[in-house]
Order: sequence, then structure tokens, then C-alpha cells
Amino acid sequence: MFNVQIDGVWHQFKKGTRVIEACAQAGVYVPRYCYHPKLSSPGNCRMCLIEMGMPRMGPDRKPELDTDGKPIINWMPRPQICCAQDVAEGMGVRTNSPLAQECRKGVMEFLLINHPLDCPICDQAGECELQEFSVEYGNAGSRFLENKVKKPKNVELGPRVTLDDERCILCSRCIRFCNEIAHDDVLGFVDRGSHTVLTAHPGKRLENNYSLNTVDICPVGALTSSDFRFKMRVWFLKETKSICTSCATGCNTIIGTREDIVYRQTPRQNDHVNSCWMCDYGRLNFKYLEAENRLLESQVRSGSKLAATEWKDAIAQAALQLRQFSGGNIAIVASGRMTNEELWLTKKIAELLGPRYIDIVPRRGEGDDILLSQYRNPNRVGARLILGLEPEPGKILQAITEGITRGEIRALLLLGENPTNFGIPVEQLATLSTFIAMDILSNPGNECATVRLPAAGFSEKRGSMINGKGRLQRLNRAVRPPGNARDDWEILRDLLQALGGSNGLYSIDDVFRQMSSEIQEFHGLTLNKIGDLGMHVINVDESPRAPVDPKAKDIERAEKKRPLGR
Ligand code: SF4
Ligand code: SF4
Ligand code: FES
Repeated sequence: MFNVQIDGVWHQFKKGTRVIEACAQAGVYVPRYCYHPKLSSPGNCRMCLIEMGMPRMGPDRKPELDTDGKPIINWMPRPQICCAQDVAEGMGVRTNSPLAQECRKGVMEFLLINHPLDCPICDQAGECELQEFSVEYGNAGSRFLENKVKKPKNVELGPRVTLDDERCILCSRCIRFCNEIAHDDVLGFVDRGSHTVLTAHPGKRLENNYSLNTVDICPVGALTSSDFRFKMRVWFLKETKSICTSCATGCNTIIGTREDIVYRQTPRQNDHVNSCWMCDYGRLNFKYLEAENRLLESQVRSGSKLAATEWKDAIAQAALQLRQFSGGNIAIVASGRMTNEELWLTKKIAELLGPRYIDIVPRRGEGDDILLSQYRNPNRVGARLILGLEPEPGKILQAITEGITRGEIRALLLLGENPTNFGIPVEQLATLSTFIAMDILSNPGNECATVRLPAAGFSEKRGSMINGKGRLQRLNRAVRPPGNARDDWEILRDLLQALGGSNGLYSIDDVFRQMSSEIQEFHGLTLNKIGDLGMHVINVDESPRAPVDPKAKDIERAEKKRPLGR
């Protein structure tokens, strides 16, 4: 540990701590633009200038001490940046001295001389560090009388990112992100002095699957998301902490919503899972929540048509139909997109119905070495654990398909999956005596259902999932389900009740409580105890192959040594 004086107070910091981080640990915020804790530090914005000093050495080459026994500091005459410098023994730091304040004012003035007066129409307004630091550390007026340099506006850097070069403060965060995290050397600066601009290298586009992270880390409104820009002022957005459900990694997210509409998802820092990043595929995978074929009413088949029915009648009808079958006549196909609570209720339903076949639909795609997992079911691990699917989920789907084709399986309970995607043709589905489908969207498969139940999307419900590395994480409700759609756990709870009588499950916390008393990995946990960053509960390692953060591997090792289920 090193002793460091920050603004007159002595603190201790670990060797290797950056001075800017040491200041933060001491409760002192130093403004910064180019510094990002997960990227290298080029020190090019100069916003973090401070006064720095080292102990005064006596003739014996030992630090001279003051009357309190602390080193006397020799202050350097010039300011220093604190983002690229580690702490050292006896170091002194002044973050708010007249010199430091004057320097920040000067830097702000330089940064703003060519910056357009765009704030009222800029998409970054409300979360712009240039605005915020200008108010906090800058000058009220401008002394710049010359014409501002004009730079390219509305440049499509790639399919999802739009650049306004005039707003760029040349911090290089986006360039470093592409090189160091996305491993795609695509951005760079060209030209000199005031005419320097950010651009993509000739013949290249910013189109990697992580491109939208550059928008998150751009401290100003230069890089904007082509999808989100001009859709909503950020101060109107309600922010809900949740997780991405588009693959087994389970990146931590913030869902930005207003009036029950999801406008954007941004990554939330969790060094055990996704560091500060998420992929574009997962980030933008929420449009289907607003799809035209969204199921809005519970429906029961009447002749050749599905007719809207009250929820309690639809549930009673589903239970009545399912009760006629058991053993080899009935199959349950659940989904690896369901939460643990939903899967546990499915298991309870299965215990009452006694089907011979129960499985989930595997979902695979191309993964990468950064975050995206080849397993696209977000709760594959939870499904295996709770439903006891061994050796592999999806192994008995073939038997289910064949059973339906042979006419042996007469009843199907299908939860959150499209049956035509796993090989059951619509004609075969139409021959089933009982076909209860719970889903978000209408599809040709569930059009044949005898009872169809509209469920909630990932942002419309609460629950927990286990990611591909065995981390239990929470999903939170950001918006209400549309129409008469309901949270899946409530639908399954009602169905369970209709089949087996009262079950004492009144809230999702009750479901988790009962589940945790049965499943060893959840012993002693509640939904609240999981916390915003989740907890490691089971040793699996399904994805991604390489950690995003060099420190992540150490964290994981330490986590795996912890007793499970606590
Ligand atoms: S576009 Fe944004 S992140 Fe990239 S260099 Fe400019 S200010 Fe920095
Ligand atoms: S890596 Fe997976 S969990 Fe993370 S944002 Fe992408 S799809 Fe979602
Ligand atoms: S944050 Fe230190 S130089 Fe930019």
C-alpha cells in the first residue's frame, strides 16, 4: 500500500492504482474525457489536470517529515494529468487548487472553440459531459471571435452508428474501444490541428457487433445510435436494471422506457459478466415487443376459429383439456427463454400431468470471443437444472415430433416456442386433441392451438435466470404487458391451481421461496438477495470462451471457491 495525500488528507492505496481512481476512492471526482477504466490511457484530452508533488528528499536521500511525521511535498511547478499515472509512496495531489481550476477552465475553452452550439437539437443533451463540465468547470462566455471550423455532419459510420464530426472532442475512446475490445481496427483521426476529424479507415465501416458501445462511451453527442437518435429525450426515460435475454451470457442492462414503450437498452457494468459492454444484436433485440402479431387476448378454439375469452375461462378450459391425458399421450415443450420461476411452475404442472416427454428447444448461433454466446437461450442452464434435462436439452424433441406424427401424442403444452421451428408441421398440430400454447407472438403453429394464452416479453416481467457461467441474475419489469397479456408465472400459477388446487403462490417471491426450498443451488436465497449484480450458484462454463476483462478470470476463480447457493 502507498500513502498518498489528496487535497490535504492522507490515504492509502494499492500499488498500481491510477491517481484518477485513487481520487475517486477518496471521494474526489476529477473530470475526464479520454480516460475510461476499461481502456488504455492515452492522456490526450488534458481535462484531468491536477497539481502533483513528490516527497522532498533530505541530504540522506530519505523523505523530510513535517511536525506530524508526514512527508513534506515538493509540488511540481506544472500541472500533470492524473489518468495515466499510478500512485507512488508519499505522492501529493491537489485537485482543486487555483492552478488546477484555471487549467480546467482553459481546457474547456479550447474544447468548445469549434464546438457547434447544438445543444437544443443534440441527442446527447441530458447525458452530455461537455455540457455538464462546461457548467461545472468552464467559463460562462466565449472569447472566440473567429469562424468555427465546419466538419462533416450526419455521417453514417456504419449501419447502426451516425457521426457528427463537429461535436467530436477527439478523445479517441471510440478508436481505442474498437482496437482493444472489439478487435476491429476501423476508426482513426485524419488531418491536423483544428481540422482533425474522426473517420473510418478507407474501405471500412463501423459495423462490428459491438459498434453501439462507442455511442455509450462517446462523452459528447458525436456518435449517436441511428436507431435511438431523435426518438426520445433521455430525461424522459425511466431506467430499469435488468439483463439481456438474447444469449446465455446475460449481459447486465438498463432498459430505457417511457409510457410502456422500450426505447433503448444500454449496458450496465458488471465485471463478473459483461464488463461495461453488450453486443448490438442483444441491444436492439426488443422491437418484437411492439410487433403487429403480438398476442393480446386469451383465446379458446370455437370451431375453426380462436375466440377471445376471459382469462379464468381460458385457464379452466386449458386445465380441463390437459387433464384428459397423461403418460405417453401428452408432451410439454418449454423454453430456455423462460425464467427459473416459470420453469419451476412448469415442472409442478408436469408432476400433476405426468407426461412422458418434456424438453426445451435448443437455440444455437454463431458466438464470438468477446461476449456473444453460441447458446442463444438465456436460461439454458436453469432449464437443465430445474427440469432435469439430461444429457442435453433438446434431445427428446425428435421423439415428441414423431409421437405427434404417429398420433400417439394427443396433447401438447407448448410454452414460448414456435412448433414449426422444431419440425412439427402445421398439419400435424391441427390433428392434436389438446394444444395449449402460451406465447408472445402469433405464429402459424400456435394458430392451431385449442387454447392460446398471451404472455409477457422479457421487459414486461420479473424473474431470475442462470447464465452460461452459472450466475443467477434478475430480470426486472420495465413496462406493462400490452392488452390482456399477463406475466408468464401468473399464467402458469393459475394453470397449476386449476389442475391441482390452491398452491399458496401469491407473488413471484412466493414462487422463488418455494423453489429455493426444493432446489439445492437456490437454498437460502430470495429474489432480493440475488442483488443487481447476481451471484454465482452453479459451476458451468458455456460461454463466451474468452473473458472481456483480464481481471474477470481472477474474479471468476475467486467466485467459484465460494460455497454455492449462498
Ligand atoms: S467520436 Fe466521441 S468517442 Fe470518438 S473521439 Fe470523438 S468524442 Fe471521442
Ligand atoms: S452478448 Fe448475449 S447477453 Fe450480451 S448483449 Fe449480446 S446477446 Fe445479449
Ligand atoms: S482524462 Fe486524463 S488526459 Fe483525458
